[in-house]
Amino acid sequence: MTDAPPDFEIFLVTAPGLEAALAEEAQELGFVDPVAAPGGVTFRGTWPDVWRANLELRGATHVLVRIASLRVMHLAQLDKRARRVEWQAFLRPDVAVSVEATCRKSKIYHAGAAAQRIATAIAEELGAPVRADAPVRVLARIEDDLCTISIDSSGESLHKRGHKEAVNRAPMRETMAALLLRQCGYSGTEPVLDPMCGSGTFVIEAAEIALGLQPGRSRSFAFEQLAGFDLATVATLRRPPGPVPPLTFFGSDRDAGAIEMSRANAERAGVAASTRFQQLPIGELTRPEGPPGLVIINPPYGDRIGNKPSLAGLYRSLGDVLKRQFSGWRVGLVATDANLVRATTLPFLPPAPSILHGGLRIALHQTAPLP
Ligand SMILES: C[S@@+](CC[C@H](N)C(=O)[O-])C[C@H]1O[C@@H](n2cnc3c(N)ncnc32)[C@H](O)[C@@H]1O
Repeated sequence: MTDAPPDFEIFLVTAPGLEAALAEEAQELGFVDPVAAPGGVTFRGTWPDVWRANLELRGATHVLVRIASLRVMHLAQLDKRARRVEWQAFLRPDVAVSVEATCRKSKIYHAGAAAQRIATAIAEELGAPVRADAPVRVLARIEDDLCTISIDSSGESLHKRGHKEAVNRAPMRETMAALLLRQCGYSGTEPVLDPMCGSGTFVIEAAEIALGLQPGRSRSFAFEQLAGFDLATVATLRRPPGPVPPLTFFGSDRDAGAIEMSRANAERAGVAASTRFQQLPIGELTRPEGPPGLVIINPPYGDRIGNKPSLAGLYRSLGDVLKRQFSGWRVGLVATDANLVRATTLPFLPPAPSILHGGLRIALHQTAPLP
């Protein structure tokens, strides 16, 4: 087996708009010089960095290992250069791979044909089977005639922590919830309340952060099937949880099914003792006992035509109850419609750059502690 190079480029994927927050998280976790780039964060590292990034980062959706950059002007050249990539340093001949390609502003414009050339190179030079439902994904991005080849070391998106079986119709992704909590200045030392909690994502994520639980503690990763994998080293990167802090994380929702889901999800995540879920319409929300903290909410966005007027009423009730009862608490409101945000009449600071997610432009609106 050829050894992998001493270090390589690692790319952490996130939604556009959240790159700076993810770079900050990577920096805090001790990865070396993470730099925000469009759609993610790059830094240089080794296999243990890749494994630790998957286990510890709450905000990345995938951890990609950049294994080659090939200048390619036509398919025959791609075919030839792809055969020279040191596949055996990263992939195993006995583990199937899939190959996906995208092309932009390049002489090679047929993504399917490009993927097929790379697949053939892997199959013939390394001997690994290539099939669509393989456990390991090889990704090629051809842009300005430069083909960047990466391996997805995560496998399933990292927002799948492995605890959530139950989801409602519009669940927030854990990775995005974690970065939004970070943008609200949450670091695990104050209570958090979500009065429209759905499946409980913000509440559970906040509790996990406070308890020092590694986000990847319960799931498997594609890197377990890559060439450099070392089980003993990965075991040393797993951390036991920290002490349980004297904090409670609160979720409520008017929907009984949502509350049932949230409780089951919190139980599976191991944070049931630190969380309280209650079925409650927003108008009946009351301030919990104890110190103030952060209220974070993503109310229904109302992108379906015709439901905006009734939603204005919902946003207004939300603003009223928070202003009446939550003096000293900060508010983070995740929304797509500036008019609905205004309907709350909450004293929002200028919003952070918007986030592109699932075809929507989402903005986080924050207040200082309410008067
Ligand atoms: C976009 S979802 C929130 C998703 C949630 N963050 C999650 O991760 O699953 C909006 C939630 O607001 C709740 N909701 C709508 N109107 C409400 C009201 N008047 N009072 C309380 N909850 C309400 C819905 O039941 C739904 O669960």
